[in-house]
Amino acid sequence: MHLNLLFLASAAMATLAHPGPHESLSHSTLQRRNMQGKRCSEHVASFNKRRMAKRSLAKRWEGSDHNTTYEIHTEAPFYETINNDTCVLAPEVTRGPYVWPRSQTLRQDMTEDQVGVPLWLDIGVISMDTCEPLPDALIDFWHCNSTGSYSSFTGLSPNTPFEELLTNMNITDYDLGVTDLHTGDTTWLRGMWPTDANGMMEMKTIFPGFYVERAIHIHVQVYIHWTTRENGTVVAGNTVSTGQLYFDEQLEEKIMAIDPYFSHTEIKRTTNAKDSIFSQGFDGGYNPVISVVPADGKDVKNGMIRYVTIGVDTSDIETFN
Ligand SMILES: *[C@@H]1O[C@H](CO)[C@@H](O)[C@H](O)[C@H]1NC(C)=O
Ligand SMILES: *[C@@H]1O[C@H](CO)[C@@H](O)[C@H](O)[C@H]1NC(C)=O
Ligand SMILES: *[C@@H]1O[C@H](CO)[C@@H](O)[C@H](O)[C@H]1NC(C)=O
Ligand SMILES: *[C@@H]1O[C@H](CO)[C@@H](O)[C@H](O)[C@H]1NC(C)=O
Ligand SMILES: *[C@@H]1O[C@H](CO)[C@@H](O)[C@H](O)[C@H]1NC(C)=O
Repeated sequence: MHLNLLFLASAAMATLAHPGPHESLSHSTLQRRNMQGKRCSEHVASFNKRRMAKRSLAKRWEGSDHNTTYEIHTEAPFYETINNDTCVLAPEVTRGPYVWPRSQTLRQDMTEDQVGVPLWLDIGVISMDTCEPLPDALIDFWHCNSTGSYSSFTGLSPNTPFEELLTNMNITDYDLGVTDLHTGDTTWLRGMWPTDANGMMEMKTIFPGFYVERAIHIHVQVYIHWTTRENGTVVAGNTVSTGQLYFDEQLEEKIMAIDPYFSHTEIKRTTNAKDSIFSQGFDGGYNPVISVVPADGKDVKNGMIRYVTIGVDTSDIETFN
């Protein structure tokens, strides 16, 4: 608890200095993750092979310890290629100011009415402690729409720097995770789904756009031992991983040139190289930029599948309420 508060306080201070807060991981944590990653690399490769083999099987999720009225069944993840990248996400990577658990619901398609290039996030979770797939982990995603807005925060301009937004709202004591900035109850491009018995899940969304001062990214958080309300939002859970996923610069150029992304002309897009948080995703030698494959086997502009293996450190838990 004490550690949590410390984290929130320093993260909030960092927010004011940069468009997004981030604390660097300690040397010992990085070293431990590096070793875990090396130790698990072969397991990750064989996990990916098993995922390929299972792709035509629809698995029914039969967890009984979650108090939810939602019937959860995981669609067979859909991917055509194996990427051998492990992306380890740490609790220390920022959730940013647009985290909003009350709008995150259990579903496998979080698009709603948002227009953009279809994107399937195909996720496998592996525990870095055991190097085994982690079933029943809740994977939580949120990102902006094709012109930079976040649901539940649509009253905040995606083109105004965060500090300026705070100034305009007369907020002088912003505290990340505490100060309530939400402006509505829309839920688009927010969703969560648990991994199945094989540690796999899939989420359908659209390719995100961009907002001021940040590279294109998708927020992702992993919970274990979670419970949900009747409306499918999380009551409580232990966060074992918080991170941001990025895309390749060339792919971004291609997608930003088409409708409706290209209508976002008010600001210049921040590239990965210029982003203040991007480089932190590589801490410990991992790669948060994972390649994509075209869903139709031809053109990513028609839709794409992104295959990510997330290695989580189940001994590094942050309690979330
Ligand atoms: C995945 O990466 C590991 C570590 O670099 C390597 O040993 C393994 O052969 C790779 N597997 C595949 C299928 O590429
Ligand atoms: C589950 O939720 C319902 C409705 O909120 C409540 O009545 C019930 O006691 C809960 N059950 C458990 C096991 O927590
Ligand atoms: C779910 O229920 C909680 C508690 O009643 C509420 O705060 C939240 O806004 C609801 N979220 C959705 C998406 O219905
Ligand atoms: C993104 O969301 C904002 C806020 O709701 C909306 O004004 C905008 O039209 C949306 N972008 C697209 C391309 O629909
Ligand atoms: C912020 O404070 C100024 C000066 O006191 C006031 O004119 C303005 O209406 C306030 N804005 C908001 C959003 O409360």
